[in-house]
Amino acid sequence: MRFPETFPELGTERLRLQALRADDAEALFAIFADPEVMRYWSRPPMRELAEAEALVADATAAFAAGDSFRWGLRSDAEDRVIGTCSLFHLDAQNGRAEIGYALRRPSWGQGLMQEALRAVIGYAFDARGLDLGRIEADLDPHNQASARLLERLGFAREGLLRERWTVAGVTTDSLIMGLLRREWRP
Ligand SMILES: CC(C)(COP(=O)(O)OP(=O)(O)OC[C@H]1O[C@@H](n2cnc3c(N)ncnc32)[C@H](O)[C@@H]1OP(=O)(O)O)[C@@H](O)C(=O)NCCC(=O)NCCS
Repeated sequence: MRFPETFPELGTERLRLQALRADDAEALFAIFADPEVMRYWSRPPMRELAEAEALVADATAAFAAGDSFRWGLRSDAEDRVIGTCSLFHLDAQNGRAEIGYALRRPSWGQGLMQEALRAVIGYAFDARGLDLGRIEADLDPHNQASARLLERLGFAREGLLRERWTVAGVTTDSLIMGLLRREWRP
């Protein structure tokens, strides 16, 4: 795996995937404070704008440290972040990473996240990109939209880890899904 020096901007038919900026905080807050978006997330909905500002700062620092990527999704129609995709838990030795994603609610059901994830996965597996061999996802087994999206992309359901997360006092299992480079159909 080769970690890039400059943030890798990606483009799709309808989206631009770019680094998050400080002035994205308000748009990010609108996404991550929405209880519907956060229903199956690993932490409760945001309550203050400062949490979104911290998200941008953390993402910027994590890229600079060579730890992870978090792309902001911008549609061609408006220069406002409508969601994010990330690659984290990068493991260079074993050529793998974990993938995560969220989209604002009004943009659901238009195939936008599938389009964005195709670009991210392509970059992750490409020998001129990250050159990874495996991408994995850890999701709430009840998150049907997310599981369906990953299956569409070729991910396999690999296992169930019991009582792995506790968010706001509720404990949930993890469905682990994985995609290998040799299975990827761009
Ligand atoms: C998961 C999420 C990113 C999907 O984004 P999206 O752009 O709406 O996804 P797509 O339009 O590509 O649809 C994905 C598939 O899920 C299906 N789907 C959408 N909502 C669904 C629901 N509530 N129940 C079951 N299937 C659903 C779609 O029909 C589509 O399947 P298809 O390709 O067979 O038609 C979005 O719902 C979201 O941001 N959820 C909240 C955050 C989250 O849970 N992130 C994942 C954490 S693991």
